[in-house]
Amino acid sequence: GKPKNWQGGAGPGMKLGRVVLGLLLLAPLAVQAVEPIALGLALAGVLTSYISYPRLYCLFAECCGQKRSLSREALQKDLDNKLFGQHLAKKVILNAVFGFLNNPKPKKPLTLSLHGWTGTGKNFVSKIIAENIYEGGLNSDYVHLFVATLHFPHASNITLYKDQLQLWIRGNVSACARSIFIFDEMDKMHAGLIDAIKPFLDYYDLVDGVSYQKAIFIFLSNAGAERITDVALDFWRNGKQREEIKLKDMEHALSVSVFNNKNSGFWHSSLIDRNLIDYFVPFLPLEYKHLKMCIRVEMQSRGYEIDEDIVTRVAEEMTFFPKEERVFSDKGCKTVFTKLDYYYDD
Ligand SMILES: Nc1ncnc2c1ncn2[C@@H]1O[C@H](COP(=O)(O)OP(=O)(O)OP(=O)(O)O)[C@@H](O)[C@H]1O
Ligand SMILES: [Mg+2]
Repeated sequence: GKPKNWQGGAGPGMKLGRVVLGLLLLAPLAVQAVEPIALGLALAGVLTSYISYPRLYCLFAECCGQKRSLSREALQKDLDNKLFGQHLAKKVILNAVFGFLNNPKPKKPLTLSLHGWTGTGKNFVSKIIAENIYEGGLNSDYVHLFVATLHFPHASNITLYKDQLQLWIRGNVSACARSIFIFDEMDKMHAGLIDAIKPFLDYYDLVDGVSYQKAIFIFLSNAGAERITDVALDFWRNGKQREEIKLKDMEHALSVSVFNNKNSGFWHSSLIDRNLIDYFVPFLPLEYKHLKMCIRVEMQSRGYEIDEDIVTRVAEEMTFFPKEERVFSDKGCKTVFTKLDYYYDD
């Protein structure tokens, strides 16, 4: 999905104040210069209905921390039906998210760190989580996606980004305690920015009068992917089922020592050292059969009959590793969709 980000304002009227990053860089968190009268009227309308009939209002529009159909079963069903080949991630996420949402007084925000090979479903799962908490999913006013290379590209601007990010998180959590923040390409995030978010992740009741304990932070990265893949390959070579892999088997793969490389060393160790990450979620590399599943889903969503012949041909166009055994897809499910275009060209 498109990264939605840095939108201004707060509360139900927030969509009115949606702006581009550029504008916000000039006036962080300021009220946007959209026709003030129209904005005022609309806001007044929204606020009256919101304040006088909050329950009623939330039946028709999205509200902070509520979704009519939020249930463990719905999340489980979504994960079972949509996410392929990730039994570990499924289990951890279901329990973590649901336990957290049902905890009336969490001691700290929920922090999930999703790791794994490219194209294995990390962004995809973040979207499923967001959709199960907010009707609008990633487009919800309460869900914020940051992509390191897109939103924080210049190392020379770190101080500016840092201030803005803190203001942004603070402003949004004050407006809605149940805010969701997703940080993509965590391994490319500048150390200074990680320092900037650390205080929000910790065990504090209040930080400058704001409680972050109901917020959800999701970090995505490829850190540890090779190790995760090694474990999966070991199982495969020993003729064991992928589903037999236990979280315990991945523990070493995701331990601090593994992250002592230049790319991902810092953020990881600095967050782990202080126990700020609640769950490390490993994503396994995808196999040929999972690619086929992804292709079928895509065919269906484009309204085509499933043609097994095309499914096989597209899957066989992908490249696999290790070279001799050809077990795992190099790109996960990431490029299968564009390959499909070729067969439906005319
Ligand atoms: N395990 C999976 N089950 C079902 N679909 C998947 C899975 N993994 C990937 N896909 C499909 O492939 C697309 C790309 O995957 P996604 O963007 O989630 O990869 P990623 O893990 O974030 O990769 P990267 O590390 O490169 O960012 C998804 O939108 C989804 O359609
Ligand atoms: Mg991704």
